[in-house]
Amino acid sequence: MAGLTHSVLRTTILGFGGVGLLSTEMLSASRLPAERPGSSPYLVRTAAESPLSYQLLLTDENIIPQVFDSLHRLQADVIDFNLGCPAPLVRRSGGGSSLMDHPDRVRRIVARSRKQTNLPLTAKIRLGETLDEEKLRNFCRMLAGEGIDLLTVHARLRAEPFARPPRWPWVGKIKQWLDIPVIANGSIDSVASARRCLSESGADGLMIGRAAARMPWIFAAVAREVYRVEIPETKPCLPHLYDEFVRGLIERFRPERRLGRLKEFTHYFAGNYFFGHQLASRVQASCSLEEAWEQATAFFAANDRDGDGTVQAP
Ligand SMILES: Cc1cc2nc3c(=O)[nH]c(=O)nc-3n(C[C@H](O)[C@H](O)[C@H](O)COP(=O)(O)O)c2cc1C
Repeated sequence: MAGLTHSVLRTTILGFGGVGLLSTEMLSASRLPAERPGSSPYLVRTAAESPLSYQLLLTDENIIPQVFDSLHRLQADVIDFNLGCPAPLVRRSGGGSSLMDHPDRVRRIVARSRKQTNLPLTAKIRLGETLDEEKLRNFCRMLAGEGIDLLTVHARLRAEPFARPPRWPWVGKIKQWLDIPVIANGSIDSVASARRCLSESGADGLMIGRAAARMPWIFAAVAREVYRVEIPETKPCLPHLYDEFVRGLIERFRPERRLGRLKEFTHYFAGNYFFGHQLASRVQASCSLEEAWEQATAFFAANDRDGDGTVQAP
């Protein structure tokens, strides 16, 4: 997720465990070869962040050789195509969900990519502009036929807002059309919703977005409760987690790159608190990382729910 799934959040998630595959935020393919791996906020990573999927916004098949060379040098474990982003800016540049209206271009991109790498290739889609089963089936079969190894489906139409319940049964429909793994995404934010999504979709796995920033321990909880993976139960301590997050930002990002990322993260993390909007707005109004950190520390001291900063797992 743009501005959110960087090295520090990925590391926080790993601290709890339970995650099978991590991802970068969407990366502009045309800019990727010029980015510096050690200092680019999009590319900085630690060795522990593995397996890591690199998600591409790619519209021009002619740049695939240079882009994939860069990804090989970066030791990408998986390469993912963003075919679902509904953001107007991304669509105007011909990327994200607008590519679902250009299956021939996507076919050329995937076919050329398949020749360029032996790494697993994956794609992420929404359900399309309207519920058009034939169009969706043709598009998904084309992806699998050209060499996509796994498909993630955000179970909403292009223009549907998050407030609308996701259409998880459509993930099951897509799964029946294909012989590659299909992963369900959209509004999984608890062990209960993970269970519901799996039962409604029959998906081969789950992708969790926003809840990863609110509850980085959700992967551990779902792995333990739903998939019966042996992971010890820990009670997350929110102020400690936040402090470690800020320290991570200081360690890995240049000063001008830190505050924006803390604000993005806090927007979701604040959802753990009844009065979280106060935390979010104080951090949002801060002009420096130090000020934001002080505001957050004061908020935590005044809102310590159990007397020890901990919360129950979802
Ligand atoms: C702030 C934000 C940034 C996002 N950036 C990306 C992105 O870079 N790539 C992507 O595939 N999806 C992106 N998404 C969509 C999520 O990955 C996910 O599909 C969507 O939020 C639904 O899943 P969720 O309910 O688990 O969040 C973004 C969503 C949000 C809210």
